[in-house]
Amino acid sequence: MNIAGSLSVREGQVDVAILAGPRVTLWPSRGARLLATSCTEMGLVAGLYGGESMTVRGVVPLPGTGGLVLVEDVQHRIHRIRARAVVKVSDLTGLPDPFPGWRSQGLVPLSTAERLRRESHVSWDPCTVILGSGNRALRFGSSLLESGVAEVYCIESSAQWGAKRFAGWEVERRRFEMLGGRLIEARPVRLLPKAALLWELKVQDSLGVRLLEVARVVAAGPFEGQPGVREHPPGSSLFELEQTAQANREDDVEGWVMEEERGIWLAGKIIKSLATDLGERKEELDRVFKRARGRLRRYSKHREEPFTPAYHGKWVSNGDLKAIKAFSGVPVLEHRARLIASVECFEQIPCSTCVTVCPTGAIELGRVPRDPEKRILQESKCISCGLCAQACPSGAIPLVKESGEHAMSSLVLPWRGKRLWSIGDFAILVNRRGETLGNARVSKILDPGEVLAQRISAGVITPLVRLRGVTTQLVQVDVPSHLLWETRGLKRRAAAAVEDEAYLEAVRRSEASAEKVDITLNGERRMVRDRIPVSVALFEVGQSRAEDVLYCPDGSCGLCQVLVDGVKKLACQSRTHRGMAIKLVEPPAPTQGESSLCPCLGITVEQVIERLQQGKLQSPEAVLSVTHVGEGKCHGQLCMEAFRRALLSQGLDATQWSDWRFPWSEWTLVHN
Ligand code: SF4
Ligand code: SF4
Ligand code: FES
Repeated sequence: MNIAGSLSVREGQVDVAILAGPRVTLWPSRGARLLATSCTEMGLVAGLYGGESMTVRGVVPLPGTGGLVLVEDVQHRIHRIRARAVVKVSDLTGLPDPFPGWRSQGLVPLSTAERLRRESHVSWDPCTVILGSGNRALRFGSSLLESGVAEVYCIESSAQWGAKRFAGWEVERRRFEMLGGRLIEARPVRLLPKAALLWELKVQDSLGVRLLEVARVVAAGPFEGQPGVREHPPGSSLFELEQTAQANREDDVEGWVMEEERGIWLAGKIIKSLATDLGERKEELDRVFKRARGRLRRYSKHREEPFTPAYHGKWVSNGDLKAIKAFSGVPVLEHRARLIASVECFEQIPCSTCVTVCPTGAIELGRVPRDPEKRILQESKCISCGLCAQACPSGAIPLVKESGEHAMSSLVLPWRGKRLWSIGDFAILVNRRGETLGNARVSKILDPGEVLAQRISAGVITPLVRLRGVTTQLVQVDVPSHLLWETRGLKRRAAAAVEDEAYLEAVRRSEASAEKVDITLNGERRMVRDRIPVSVALFEVGQSRAEDVLYCPDGSCGLCQVLVDGVKKLACQSRTHRGMAIKLVEPPAPTQGESSLCPCLGITVEQVIERLQQGKLQSPEAVLSVTHVGEGKCHGQLCMEAFRRALLSQGLDATQWSDWRFPWSEWTLVHN
C-alpha cells in the first residue's frame, strides 16, 4: 500500500504500540495505562494511540513480529508508526448469535441502551429483555428496575440448560432478583414488531416456548468465555486486550481489576520478549508477572463456583441458611443487642470497597484466596454506621439486629431507587430471589453521617474521606424475626411504582417539550428535541432503523447514513436543529435475511458453514478469504463475533484468533 504522494505522512518508531480498537469509548482505560507504564518502567518505548485526537486506522502486520500502525490525527495527517509489539484494546461485542429479527430496530446493543438511557427519553416499559447475564447485563437490569420499569428479564442464552453457571457475581444476580428482575435460561427464537414501539420476542426454554411483549431487547454479551488477552498469530507480538474497565472503579470493580491484572500480565510477557538486558530487574518482573497470572486465575474461580442457595418454596433450605449464618462476614453475637453489618459477600471477588470505607476497620477481606480461618467481620469494631452497606455496589450488606424468635427484628437495607422512602411508608419484603415474603413499614432512615458525627465528637473514630456521589438510602424496617435472614430486598407496590414513574416521565417530557423544534422526517413534520444526535431523535420518535444502533462512538462503522438537507451524513454525528430535513437513506430494514451473519454483505450463517464444509477449510483466514465476511461497510463490527461462534459450532476454535485486516473502519485517503 502506498500512502505517500502529497499526503503528509509522519514516521515514528516505538517498542510497544497500544491502540484503541473500534468501538472503544474509554481511552486510555486502566489496563492500557498500566501496560504502558509497566513497559516504560522497564526501559521500553511505549505509545498510546486513540481517543478524540488520534484515530487508529489499522495495522499492517510485519513479517516476523510487530506491525506498522497507521494513525490519523485531527488535522488528517497520517502517522506511520513501526512497532515491535502491537496491542489492540478491544471492546467486547455485545451482539447475540443471529436469530430471525436480530437485525431489527427492536434489538440494541448494551452500549447503545446505556447511551439511550443517559441521553434520550426512550421508554423501557412495559418490559425490557436483556440477552445476557454477565455483570453489566445484570447491572443494567437493576438500574432499569430501580428507575421503575415494571418488568425486566435477563436471558442467558448460551448455557446448557439445567447445567448453568452464571458468569455474573452472585451478589449482582441477587441484587437484580431482589429488585424483581427475572433471570431465565432460554434461547431467542424470533423478534417481530407488534405495534408502535412494541415487539414480540419468542424464546424457548427447557419447558417450551414463551412470548414476551417488549419495548426493547438489549443484547449484552459476551455470550461465551472470552480469553481476555489473545496473541494472534502465535509468536507475532500482535495482541488483543479486552477492555472491561469502566471510567470509575466503583462502576464495575471486577471489570476494572481484571483489566488491571491483564494489563500487568501482558506487559510482563511483552517485556520478556523485547527487553534484552533486564539485569537485576528480571526477578522483580518475574514476581509481578506470576502474581498477576495467579490473581487472574483466582479471580475467575468464583464464576465456576457461585454460591446459589437452594430453596424450599420461598425459604432458603436449612442447610444453606446454616451456611449463610456460619459465613465469617455474618455476625454471630453482637447483633442480638444492636444493629451490626452482615457482610454477605460469599464469593471471592476482586472487590474491597466495604473495607476501604469502613471507618473502624471492622471488615477485613484479605487477599483472594481468603484465609478460611480468618473472620471477615470484627463485630466488636462495627459502630453500625451503615457506610459499608451504602457503598457496596452489589447491595450485599444489610445491617441486622435479631430479637427472640417471636419478636420483631430490625433490618436495614440499601435502596438505590429514584423515589426515596419516608418513615411510615409501606414496603413489600422480598427474599434473595425477589419473591414476596410479607409487608412492613419503614421505621427509620439511617444516616451514616449522623452516626459518624456522634462518634467523631465522642472521639471514638477519626473523620474519614466521605464517599463521592453515593446516593444509596439506608432503609430500616422492623420484620418478624423469622423473616430476618430471608428478607434481603424491598419493593414498592408495583402499581404505585409504575404510576409514580409514569408521572415523573410525564413531567420530564413536558419539561423537555419546551426545547423541541420541528423538522421534517421523510417529508413529514416531527417535533424533536433540539441539538441531540439525529440517531437519538430517531429512537425517540420511533423511527430508528437497525443501522442506528449507535454501534461505534465516532461514526467509524459508517452504518447510520441519512440525508440531511440533501447531503449524506451520519445520523450519529449530526445534531438536530430547527427546520432540518432528514431523509432516511434506506427504508426501515425488513426482518429478512433471517439467519444473516454479515448483514452488510447479506451473508448467512448457512452459507459460511456450507463453504467451510465444502472446502474443508482449516483456519478462520481461509474461511474469510472465500466468504468475505467482515469486508462490508462496518468492517466486521457487527459480524465478527458471531462469525467466531459460527466457526466454533463447526469445531474450528477461533477463540485465540484476531482479525488484523486493514483498515479497521471506513476510510478514504484524502490528498492534501
Ligand atoms: S456498619 Fe460501619 S462500622 Fe460497621 S462494618 Fe459497616 S462501615 Fe464498618
Ligand atoms: S463492597 Fe464488600 S460486600 Fe460489597 S461486593 Fe465489594 S467486597 Fe463484597
Ligand atoms: S456486518 Fe458489516 S461487514 Fe459484516
